[in-house]
Amino acid sequence: MEEIEKKLLKLQEMREEARKGGGEKRIAAQHGKGKYTARERIFRLLDEGSFEEFDMFVTHREKSFGLDEQSFLSDGVVTGHGTIHGRQVMVFSQDFTVFGGSLSEMFAKKICKIMDYAIKVGVPIIGLNDSGGARIQEGVLSLAGYADVFLRNVMASGVVPQISAILGPCAGGAVYSPAITDFSIMAKDISYMFVTGPKVVKSVTNEVVTTEQLGGPDIHASKSGVAHFIAEDEDDSFQLIRKLLTFLPQNNMEETPLVSNDDPIDRLEDDLNYVIPSDPNLPYDMRTIIELVVDQGDFLEVRRRWAPNIICAFARFNGRAVGIIANQPSHLAGVLDNLASRKAAAMIRFCDAFNIPVVTFVDVPGFMPGTRQEYEGIILNGAKLLYAYAEATVPKITIITRKAYGGAYDVMSSKHLRGDLNYAWPMAEIAVMGPAGAVEVLYGRKVKEMEPEEGKKFLKEKEKEYRDQFANPYNAARLGFIDDVIEPRNTRFRIIRGLESLAGKRDSNPPKKHGCIPL
Ligand code: HXC
Repeated sequence: MEEIEKKLLKLQEMREEARKGGGEKRIAAQHGKGKYTARERIFRLLDEGSFEEFDMFVTHREKSFGLDEQSFLSDGVVTGHGTIHGRQVMVFSQDFTVFGGSLSEMFAKKICKIMDYAIKVGVPIIGLNDSGGARIQEGVLSLAGYADVFLRNVMASGVVPQISAILGPCAGGAVYSPAITDFSIMAKDISYMFVTGPKVVKSVTNEVVTTEQLGGPDIHASKSGVAHFIAEDEDDSFQLIRKLLTFLPQNNMEETPLVSNDDPIDRLEDDLNYVIPSDPNLPYDMRTIIELVVDQGDFLEVRRRWAPNIICAFARFNGRAVGIIANQPSHLAGVLDNLASRKAAAMIRFCDAFNIPVVTFVDVPGFMPGTRQEYEGIILNGAKLLYAYAEATVPKITIITRKAYGGAYDVMSSKHLRGDLNYAWPMAEIAVMGPAGAVEVLYGRKVKEMEPEEGKKFLKEKEKEYRDQFANPYNAARLGFIDDVIEPRNTRFRIIRGLESLAGKRDSNPPKKHGCIPL
């Protein structure tokens, strides 16, 4: 009996030791920076009492550079599974109190174990990152560990959702694991991501930058697009992850569970009839439209501050999760440029991989012209968007609210790219280009031969003629490219009906290893 008690006590003591991570002093230092410890984070993220830990007793194997004298149970990363809103997730949380959360051989093995498990059972993987990078004492072993994680990130891609929260440093090659995951969340004030830090930048390029300027949340939210979401603080990042998961299925073989909805499906929104300004050159906020049509006006924007001329968001229609892609006329007139094309393509491909229908709101004057756009590859980037829409086999519903000009008409989930239901509002203008540009091309030479006043008058008349003939949805509707012209206030109802009718959609692409999206 005594022997048994001793063994039970030893187990308890070892668990206690593991829970202390790098020790009281380092925990106090972590708290002093306004940060939670690895386990505190997991408990705040998951449903209460749901966490089951793996590999608590793992320690590193390397002995050099003093590692033989210092060893910590769990080896700097806490891993296991638990639930969020009752649905299982796998989670790892890097423990900065142990060797600065640096990644060792065994640390990587722990992460790989839960990733393999997640792929096997089909559940999302959530990584909470807070690390000084490769554990310097372990040399190439830790580099190998990173590559083992990257490989699994790639294998899991499109199979289970992967979400990264950056809650501290994330530097060097370590950034590539979050980069492969589907969503990255950075928390204000405590997180940064870069391939090389300010010191290396200074020595290589002589550029002087702060950590914040180089890879803080603000930069990755607005300039690089690396961060999909910015959280106010750690707790906010956990709430964001919990909310995001409600829109996602557990894996690529499932659909997002329906949630109960008490927002009437036939709610008519009279305001929608008057949202489009009578002057087609005036902007309006596409968010107003989205808010009025989705369940409870609730939607979660992805990469909100990056390429704001296009909106990507998750929302629900009658409890069914969808991805929304919407041109934003209030920013750069909703034009498609390099970043907007990449942003939307990524969202569509994610939705398609995870059986989430795509609802597209179109008001786009075309692709952005100019040397800057061309040099940055608008041809290839625009092609990415086109490719993403064309290959997507999930239900695709398109609403043209106003402009759908030129190549952008084709690209934005048109009938020709397998749009399932294509609707237009009566204010829609669907044509090769805007009236002013069109008449300039058609009659430019002729006008040059006229007196200036006469030429101006002629162009105005032709512009009106072109507008009357083409700046409407009925030419496209006559050809069946638009399934119906709908009253704006009915939009919610028509989308919900459409999604219901498409719920059993089966579509596929020719068998292939994988396509070659223009990268
Ligand atoms: C081992 C590390 C470590 C690392 C930090 N520590 N980084 N131990 N390997 N990479 C340890 C410190 O020795 C210290 O131990 C404790 O963690 C906390 O570190 P501090 O420096 O005191 O903390 P702080 O001032 O907050 O600075 C955090 C930091 C800094 C900015 C992350 O520690 C740092 O610059 N670390 C090195 C980062 C780095 O260059 N990593 C390698 C990148 S290359 P004690 O015992 O004092 O508590 C890389 C390649 C990946 O990662 C390739 C993948 C393909």
